[in-house]
Amino acid sequence: MPTPTGPAGGITRYTLVAIVLHWLIALGVLALIGMGLVMDHRHLDPMRVFQLYQEHKSIGITVMFLIFLRIGWRLAHPAPALPQDMPPLEKKAAHLAHAALYGFQLLLPLSGWAMVSVSVLGIPTVLFGTIPWPDMPILSTLSNKEPVEAALKQLHHWASWVFLAVIILHVAAALRHRFVLHDQVFRQMLPFARTSSPHHQK
Ligand code: HEM
Ligand code: HEM
Repeated sequence: MPTPTGPAGGITRYTLVAIVLHWLIALGVLALIGMGLVMDHRHLDPMRVFQLYQEHKSIGITVMFLIFLRIGWRLAHPAPALPQDMPPLEKKAAHLAHAALYGFQLLLPLSGWAMVSVSVLGIPTVLFGTIPWPDMPILSTLSNKEPVEAALKQLHHWASWVFLAVIILHVAAALRHRFVLHDQVFRQMLPFARTSSPHHQK
């Protein structure tokens, strides 16, 4: 698919594949965080909690595939430029936040998968009740699983709350570009909005 370019030849928005993956993954991640909250902090019927765990694992592994696809796609397709008049420190902060979001997008599903692989309960992961999903090699054969499972639980727990904090910052920044600065940045991630060359940002 050709990369969308403006009159001056600069890239004016993310490719349609990148945009679709961004919004699908955003939806998936927010749903997983919501499910995580309910699973751990609400006193529900144990059967319902068990079901939620299985749904969380299925959606989590699916989102992991989308994330791998997204990272592969991103490596082959550059992102559109940020506005030329954006202060260099803000540009750095935006790049740092995006890198952190990518890091957490990898850390969360991988730590989740590792955690269930080393679980002392040994409940199998069957995606959406139909596709058996393997445990991670090595972890599933450890002799003393308990401390490793506890450490991975802590990692998954704390990483998800830091992830949520970075997402909140990210959404606030996106809304600031849309409603305060009125520049291109928000539209670059929308599939059908009109964008102009990065040299004519406002
Ligand atoms: C982007 C992907 C993911 C996100 C954002 C996410 C988020 C969360 C959150 C917020 C919690 C609740 C944490 C707490 O309050 O302690 C949680 C718990 C959990 N997640 Fe995930 N998760 C993801 C992927 C996965 C995957 C792929 C698996 C396994 C295949 C998984 C397995 C679990 C399990 C078993 C728990 C319960 C842990 C416990 O008993 O304390 N997660 N997740
Ligand atoms: C739900 C509200 C969200 C909004 C309004 C939003 C908006 C945006 C916008 C406008 C951009 C383009 C920024 C630019 O051109 O520099 C962007 C990029 C990005 N977003 Fe989001 N986003 C949201 C949720 C998320 C979530 C939940 C994640 C993480 C899972 C995420 C991860 C990213 C990443 C990694 C980029 C950088 C893409 C790249 O350059 O490769 N976003 N987002």
